Amino acid sequence: MSAQHANTDPLAELENYLRFLKDSGYTEIPLEEDLSSLSRSGPGSPAPSNLAVSSHPVEDTMIKDRRDADPAGQLQIVREEMGDCTRCKLCKGRTHIVFGSGNPKARLMFVGEGPGADEDEQGLPFVGRAGKKLTEIIEKGMGLNREKDVYICNIVKCRPPGNRDPEAKEIEACKPFLLKQIEAVRPKVIVALGRPAASVLLDRKVAITKERGTWHEFHGSKLILTLHPAYLLRAYTLENRQAVFDDMKQALMELNQ
Ligand code: URA
Repeated sequence: MSAQHANTDPLAELENYLRFLKDSGYTEIPLEEDLSSLSRSGPGSPAPSNLAVSSHPVEDTMIKDRRDADPAGQLQIVREEMGDCTRCKLCKGRTHIVFGSGNPKARLMFVGEGPGADEDEQGLPFVGRAGKKLTEIIEKGMGLNREKDVYICNIVKCRPPGNRDPEAKEIEACKPFLLKQIEAVRPKVIVALGRPAASVLLDRKVAITKERGTWHEFHGSKLILTLHPAYLLRAYTLENRQAVFDDMKQALMELNQ
């Protein structure tokens, strides 16, 4: 649910908020001060239904030169350059190239690993089980709208068979397109989902469980590493849910600075 479309029933808001805290691993309600730094609303405002911090649609807060730029047009050019790609062997088994989805002018970008079966079938990133978890993190957790407030893509655009990790050559063939997507969108914050995305963006092996929550500079964007939603589904522990919750809280704070 986007901040501007927040439920106006305070009881329903409170219920949503409590449910979200529970789902995120909280066993106690965080103190007001813990959350007030995240919120622009003044004292006496209803409890937040999520981590949303901005009362403005994300696009409203974009600086002018970003408004004048044409990220959608640039993405279109990148997509055309990719064409009916045969640069690596992943092309042989794919149904669709999964280029990316969301708002080209988004200030927040998520980068995943590669399409799975559902994504390959539909041509869209994160539409399967892990995708539903990601949508929940974005919408219920962060109070953003997946289509309006974020842009989502992967390090490789074609499905690795059996959902294996993408190989070095496949990543090498696809990485220039990922970099051009980032250059087109120029997000303020990038979230790398899981070890492969983090390792590709940082150009080194990342130990994701140790390094999640850390910030990095990336071509003018701020990059934060977090756990992949598929990993979260496999290891649905309090600790992991809390970790992702904390990382997304940090991402929102950075977005709203
Ligand atoms: N996992 C990913 O990393 N990307 C997708 O698009 C779907 C699942």
